Amino acid sequence: MRYLETAVEIAREAGALLATYFERRVPFELKGEFDLVTEADRASEQLVVERLRSHFPSHSIVGEEGFGHESASEYRWFVDPLDGTTNFAHSFPCFNVTLGLERAGETIAGVVYDPIRQEMFTAERGAGAYLNNRRIHVSKTRKLGDSLASTGFPSRKRHHNVNIHFYYQLAMASHGVRRTGSAAIDLAYVASGRLDFFWEFGLKPWDMAAGTLLVQEAGGRTSDMRGAAHSVTGSEHLLADNGVLHEEVLEMFGRIFGGSFPVEMPRIG
Ligand code: 2AM
Ligand code: CA
Repeated sequence: MRYLETAVEIAREAGALLATYFERRVPFELKGEFDLVTEADRASEQLVVERLRSHFPSHSIVGEEGFGHESASEYRWFVDPLDGTTNFAHSFPCFNVTLGLERAGETIAGVVYDPIRQEMFTAERGAGAYLNNRRIHVSKTRKLGDSLASTGFPSRKRHHNVNIHFYYQLAMASHGVRRTGSAAIDLAYVASGRLDFFWEFGLKPWDMAAGTLLVQEAGGRTSDMRGAAHSVTGSEHLLADNGVLHEEVLEMFGRIFGGSFPVEMPRIG
């Protein structure tokens, strides 16, 4: 599909740009109290938006840094020019550029590109998910007790975030819960079977449009954390998993939402 091919080309170019900034160590600014942004976020978004506009002048573009373009088109791109900015700003090599394309409210194509590992994750609705052009599938892990998971914590308004309770309970129930600092990487890793499931509160459409399609096309499942249908533009939280673990994880989430914690947190002292 022309859309996906173009998105791959643009992601590769933007990823290369991010990599040059990464080697130079760019200073960061604060968008909010702990919300970092760098020159690399803006330069990458400007590049992506410029390229998308020249290929698809009628399409809408929604980018995290606000360089997007509104139109009445049923096609809308969600762009995170640098997902994992906090990692990037600290020279921690885990970040990506991600583009998701929605048509009439449904994600139809998505790309997550990690320029450090040169890993290009791609998916098209109905045509499978790929890593560097090889088909990928979710894991076959059957039990929560045998799983490796990942979650994330926001940089903004983080004192309102209840995820630490979920983090603790799921860490106790699994082999561990990683925290990569990049939601799109987490989703790409669920799609490729490196992680069995991922959840997070409060993500934005550009963080998860491409990644949720990757998981679905790799044979996994997505829903919100209460089991309702997930919407990239409307849900408060996301669960993405290998499908097999879906019910077991939702059951655990249900208990935690209900205030019943299977394992008590240890007290200090
Ligand atoms: P970013 O690096 O583009 O900001 C970290 O848990 C993940 O959540 C990252 O993908 C990060 O993307 C995103 N993120 C961080 N703060 C956020 C916020 N306040 N709202 C939505 N997403 C956020
Ligand atoms: Ca970003």
